[in-house]
Parts: sequence; structure tokens; C-alpha cells
Amino acid sequence: MTTVDTRAVHAGREDLRALGVHVPPIDLSSTYPIGEVEAGGQAYEQLATGQRPEGVDTLVYQRLWNPNVDRFERALADLEGAQESVAFASGMAALSATLLATVAAGRPHVVAVRPLYGGTDHVLATGLLGTRVTWATADTVAAAITDDTGLIVLESPANPTLDLVDIEAVVAQAGEVPVLVDNTFATPVLQNPIRHGATLVLHSATKSLGGHGDLLGGIVATTGEWAMRLRQIRALTGGLLHPMAAYEFHRGLQTLPVRVRAAQAGAEKVAAWLSAHPAISAVHYPGLDDPAGLVGRQMRGPGAMMAFAVRGGFHAAATVAASCELITHAVSLGGVDSLIQHPAALTHRPVAAEAKPHADVLRLSIGLEDPEDIVNDLEQALSRAHP
Ligand SMILES: Cc1ncc(COP(=O)(O)O)c(C=O)c1O
Repeated sequence: MTTVDTRAVHAGREDLRALGVHVPPIDLSSTYPIGEVEAGGQAYEQLATGQRPEGVDTLVYQRLWNPNVDRFERALADLEGAQESVAFASGMAALSATLLATVAAGRPHVVAVRPLYGGTDHVLATGLLGTRVTWATADTVAAAITDDTGLIVLESPANPTLDLVDIEAVVAQAGEVPVLVDNTFATPVLQNPIRHGATLVLHSATKSLGGHGDLLGGIVATTGEWAMRLRQIRALTGGLLHPMAAYEFHRGLQTLPVRVRAAQAGAEKVAAWLSAHPAISAVHYPGLDDPAGLVGRQMRGPGAMMAFAVRGGFHAAATVAASCELITHAVSLGGVDSLIQHPAALTHRPVAAEAKPHADVLRLSIGLEDPEDIVNDLEQALSRAHP
């Protein structure tokens, strides 16, 4: 099998040579011509029930199928070692479709390992989509499962604290219940949850997969059977990825391994520098803080995300975030430029008090700038909080 570097460049492009093109043609059709009425009707039925377009002579309508979305999906499935994947308009649309599939199967109970991205926590806590949640830790999953549990949700590394969860240990407790791993922070370059027994792997593609801060999207890599259910929900609820965005995500995958490793190399330096700084009371980074030894066993590297606690509480942390000049004070992550934000005030604002990140914690996404420049910016921002 070729390496992730080679597959990232070529996946989802296998037929280009036969088409006589070097890059994927972009198909923006919202609708497709239909020949015979009955054949069109059969194609409609096939696609609206989540099946692939094998044997059809029309794709009918963009909400049912798009070739650029399909190419991105095939590429990401390849990188994750999944049978298929299904792309959506955002990470939250991808999660929503998965939760709706769980509810539709008559198993609305979800066991969720905190911490999770604030939006994920919020949609589960509100039960807005008909799910019911039991919060768990990685070692209380088995005890939380009930007769109607349809899904176990975890993130590793988790947003925003970078907690690592042993996926195999959770899968061992899950029995028949599918485990969904949000792999946004690790990316398929550093971690493939399906190899460790997960059934569903979710990405906010908005982050590292796109990598340039100019796209929103989400994708779930999974089995053929789950993919069919998710495509049916996508066709009926309309949380589609636009073909142009799919084209750009597919292109983004080609540089993903290079970007992730370069950002990771910078992050290792920044994390080491932060951990020696007197104004910092804790640095959460898988390269420094990995009690279960999951980097190496489950992850192929510590990644480019970290969190750190600033001495002086909320006020000091807020001052640092607002004082960064090179690093942009903004939510989101995984792009070519470094971003910093205050999770308790922003991305994790809706999270219940008992699970909210501490007020002194900042989350930092390292980009491709020279790590020395990032460190210099942090130094001047920290000096404003601690003159
Ligand atoms: C780990 C994680 N999962 C899911 C999401 C939601 O993705 P999106 O913003 O693309 O809807 C985010 C967004 O920040 C995230 O960080």
C-alpha cells in the first residue's frame, strides 16, 4: 500500500487520465437532463434512498449527487481507510446527519465522552435533534450504555483541552454500539480511528482539510451501510457541500500531509517554549502531556493544536488573546496561519459549567509561520498581561 503522502496527492483522481484531464473537471449543474421518464424516476429513487449512481443514465439533481463531492469523498475515505465517506455543508451538518440517522434507527440515546467541541456538546445537551445524552468519561462508557444507545461520541485529541482518549479502550466497552470519533484535530495524517475500531470518523473539513480558512464543510468516513443512511439524510434534509467547495477540499487534501507535519514541527517548538514560560501555569499538548502513551500507538505525531493556562485567570488570558498581533484572535483552527481564542468565552460558551474549560485557558492553532515569530508574538502578548 502506498503511503498517506502519495494517496493524498492521487486519491479520488484515478479516472482523470482516461478523461484526458490533469485536474478534476468542475460540475456545477443544479439539475441534469433526463431521457426516458421511467429511467429518470428510477435514478431519482436510487439516489434519494442513498444508493450510489451505478447504472443510472442521469444524476437527476445536485441535492442527490455531485461528481466533485464524490471525488472528495472517495479521497477522504481512502485516507481514513474507510469504505466510503459522505460530505456535508459543515462539520455540524455532518454531525446532525449522524444523530438523525441514530434517532431514525430507533436508538436515540447517545453516550458522549467530554470534553467535546462546544457545538457538539451544545447539540447533544439540548437534545434538539431528538437524541438523549449521557455524559461519560473514557472509562465509564460501558456503564452509560442502555438498550436504546445508538452512538458513542468522542474526540481525540479533544477540543479544547487536547485530552487524548484511547479509542480501542472505548471500542472495547461499546459492544455493538458504533463509536464516532471526531478526528478534526488529528487529521487522517496523524490518526485513523477506523484502524482502532471506530465505525464513524467525523471531520470539520473547515479546519485542516481545507487548511486556508476559506471553506466550510464536514465529512464522515464510515462503512458502506452507514454511508447510504447518511446520503439519504443528506438528500432529504439538504445539508449539502457545494461542488466548488468540494473541489477545493479535494485539492487541499493534496498538501495536507506536508501542511500538518510542518505545522506540527512549529507547534512542538512553541509548546516547549510555552512550558518554560513563568506566566504559563500549564501547557496541554500531546507531545508534552500523554500519560497513556497514545502518541506513537494511536497518533503518528502530537499535531499542531495546543491549549495553555495563563497565570492571572480570565483577565490575563483575555489580555493575551486580544494582544496577539501576528497570531489572529479568532475561532477556527487548522489553517496556514496561527489562531488563538478563549474557549470558555467563545467556542465552548454554551457548555454547562461543570464541563466548561477553565477561564485561564487559551487554545492555540499553529500555522506555517516561522515558530520564532509565533513565539515572539506570544512573548509580547504575555508581557501585556504580566508587565
Ligand atoms: C472538533 C470539531 N468538531 C466539529 C466542529 C464543527 O465544525 P463546523 O464549524 O465545520 O461546523 C468543530 C468546529 O470548530 C470542531 O472544532
